[in-house]
Amino acid sequence: MCGIVGYVGPKSALDVLLGGLRRLEYRGYDSAGVSVISEGEILTRKKAGKLSVLTEELESSPLSEASIGIGHTRWATHGAPTDGNAHPHTAGDQQISLIHNGIIENFSEIKKELEAAGVEFESETDTEVAAQLLAYEYSKTNDFEKSFLSVANRLQGAFTILAINRDDPDLVLAARRNSPLVIGIGEGENFLGSDVAAFVDHTKKAISVGQDQIVKLRQSGFELMNFAGEEVQAETFEVNWDASAASKGGWDSFMAKEISEEPQAVGDTLMGRLGADGDVELTEFAGLSIADIAGINRIIITACGTAAYAGEVAKYAIEQLARIPVSVELAHELRYRDPVIDENTLVVAISQSGETMDTLMAVRYATERGAKVLSICNTQGATLARESNATIYTHAGPEVAVASTKAFSAQITAGYLLALFLAKALGKTDQVAKVGKELLTLPRKVKKTLEMIGDVKALAEELKSTESVLFLGRNVGFPIAMEGALKLKELSYIHAEGFAAGELKHGPIALVEAGQVVIVIVPSPSAEESLHAKVLANIQEINARGAEVIAIAESGDVEVANYAKRVFYTPKTLPLLSPVLSVVPLHIFSMELAKAKGLDVDQPRNLAKSVTVE
Ligand code: M6R
Repeated sequence: MCGIVGYVGPKSALDVLLGGLRRLEYRGYDSAGVSVISEGEILTRKKAGKLSVLTEELESSPLSEASIGIGHTRWATHGAPTDGNAHPHTAGDQQISLIHNGIIENFSEIKKELEAAGVEFESETDTEVAAQLLAYEYSKTNDFEKSFLSVANRLQGAFTILAINRDDPDLVLAARRNSPLVIGIGEGENFLGSDVAAFVDHTKKAISVGQDQIVKLRQSGFELMNFAGEEVQAETFEVNWDASAASKGGWDSFMAKEISEEPQAVGDTLMGRLGADGDVELTEFAGLSIADIAGINRIIITACGTAAYAGEVAKYAIEQLARIPVSVELAHELRYRDPVIDENTLVVAISQSGETMDTLMAVRYATERGAKVLSICNTQGATLARESNATIYTHAGPEVAVASTKAFSAQITAGYLLALFLAKALGKTDQVAKVGKELLTLPRKVKKTLEMIGDVKALAEELKSTESVLFLGRNVGFPIAMEGALKLKELSYIHAEGFAAGELKHGPIALVEAGQVVIVIVPSPSAEESLHAKVLANIQEINARGAEVIAIAESGDVEVANYAKRVFYTPKTLPLLSPVLSVVPLHIFSMELAKAKGLDVDQPRNLAKSVTVE
């Protein structure tokens, strides 16, 4: 939610800020704005709409050259996406300019106080309260740092704020509480960003700013302190991908590129962790001892959205292989229902961004109750990784499209690795080698799935006026049905629901009528105790009511073709591992349907990639 960038250095601040905002636009795209300091004046441009609206404005009305500035791309919380509500917010007669990511919970109380003191507000945002408070404090103290510290201590809720002051054209001040912030350390220049994408084309040396910390960023360096003003130590890390990984590279959308990278995301996540004999090694478990693992009597997987569906697949794998009871809980529900969590609980938190506020709050809640936390995360330096006992990084690379695709494939893969690791640690090795060896074939099979899909555009064109699509799956196909429905909703704005196929007759079949499109994930016919026949019976029940079935089935399943309008085949694999393959046609189908409707698949309406507010 909201992308933030700050810069001090010899380059054109405006170019650096706009480049950073371009890479951060996935975080919010309701409005965008920049402020720079030039010849002792703060100059600001901000516009409702996507970043392109701002860049057009800057082309027609350029800003003077500057070597310091802040930039923001917004996902609206308080106040509609208008020019006036866009950030930055200036205050004190253009004395200071400020940007914010998060929600300031005590804004109305502070606003009343400031209004009583004669301050006039121009926007409906909570952010302007921080800007006005800072200008007000500065008018009394004439000390920017002291005023900023006082504001940071006064604000409640979730915030990363960056501020500049026309009296000090070499200083960006930043504060972080419950919202992400990363420092980029360059040669004679320094950066701030919501994530490393903000500056990765300038430097790969980064620092993840901790909870309740303040940054003083200058051209010559930076200082880090806590909210009491005491110096704190920083740990640097190297960003392990380059700017080209976050560019479209010839594809017409980030989403198309990211789906094409699913084989690599799976392969890179397995790399170095699984031997040719299927034996798993997870050095990341250093933060959790064998004794910790032996003491675990239950696992709670917590996540939101697509990551929670990856968690559902992990549940099947962990229970089947390691025989530990697992439940999957949406992070925003977990801590509000007084769950049974203690030191024998392992909480597995899954998040692409590692900054999802709901997931972070669930992790904090579990940690307070003595649970050990293992995270599965795709972002280096993310808050989630900092706050976990151990982290298995998914190596999907930067995911820019708002709808998650390759990160999902990588999360499922990491879930399998975790299941194998736990099984091995607990001596339950009967299936480990077989599953491990088959896991190694998945990158090739995901690639094969992409090649087998064929033309989806004609089907998408045919279905683009459809108002509702149902998704059915069983066993590990159930979370994939949910993921297929979520992706279609997000991208095409078509009503979609995912159901467990066995549930059909318990209610959802009432929705099935002539013309209804139903996508069915069909289990393998060759598996032991296969559910194939049962799901085929469901398909016939759907057909009998005049609906149209599109099936995702295993290669060689000729029977299903008799009952489906269209079948997308995937290569044979173990049933447990089939989600990595069966999700691929669903990702492509959702994307093509959205494109057929003329929609922006990378930035669907109302969404943001990282949901950093509750
Ligand atoms: O960054 P996270 O994995 O924690 O994000 C969780 C969800 O917000 C995310 O998966 C969301 O559902 C995506 N838009 C799905 O495509």
